Amino acid sequence: MIAVAIDGPAGAGKSTIAKRVSGELGYIYVDTGAIYRTVALACIRSNTAIEDVQAVEALLPSLDIRLIFFNGEQHILLGDEDVSEAIRTENVSMAASRVSAIPSVRQYLLDLQRNFARNDNVIMDGRDIGTVVLPNAQVKIFLTASPQIRAKRRVLQLQEQGMEADYEKILYDIIQRDYNDTHRETAPLKAAENAIEVDTSSMTLEEVVQKITEIIKEQTL
Ligand code: DC
Repeated sequence: MIAVAIDGPAGAGKSTIAKRVSGELGYIYVDTGAIYRTVALACIRSNTAIEDVQAVEALLPSLDIRLIFFNGEQHILLGDEDVSEAIRTENVSMAASRVSAIPSVRQYLLDLQRNFARNDNVIMDGRDIGTVVLPNAQVKIFLTASPQIRAKRRVLQLQEQGMEADYEKILYDIIQRDYNDTHRETAPLKAAENAIEVDTSSMTLEEVVQKITEIIKEQTL
């Protein structure tokens, strides 16, 4: 089985790129951030304070989180509900960043993530895929872009969806999430030693897709 790990900060384009490249190569795409987001959503809905680690830990076993693949798209289910859209709000983003700093949450979600790579060729994106989840992945990519570029892309994305977007607030949130993700003690966001770093700040989407596809093909020959 071939595993491709794509890590990097929020908004670097990991999911867009991973979706496209997995489609072209016929790999399964696993968005691990969606799993942390779903835990965060469950905390919000059940009024579980994320600072209360014991309460979050108590909630975990009751959560039935599943990833299903439908028409080539990943959907995430919490119980019987498809929460793929509900997990995309800024509120859930911030909560996910905080919930993902809890070591026991990370440990709990480890097997769930590893199981995807057992029977299929996968492209998995997240923060610690190359370092912790799949340390033996054949290809490791660290995707970055400046915070300002990432905020601009997010603004455009929201505007395309007809939503309001405040650039300053989005930039502030990105910087805050970067700080949380890189400074947590367990599995912080960092490039794996043997990861190939790709800075997408001045690249178009097509250029990034092409570059990543080339890297994967070269490394898996
Ligand atoms: O990729 P994303 O923005 O959907 O991820 C949501 C949060 O989950 C993010 O703040 C960091 C965390 N996360 C993580 O800690 N480890 C992963 N493998 C994926 C996401």
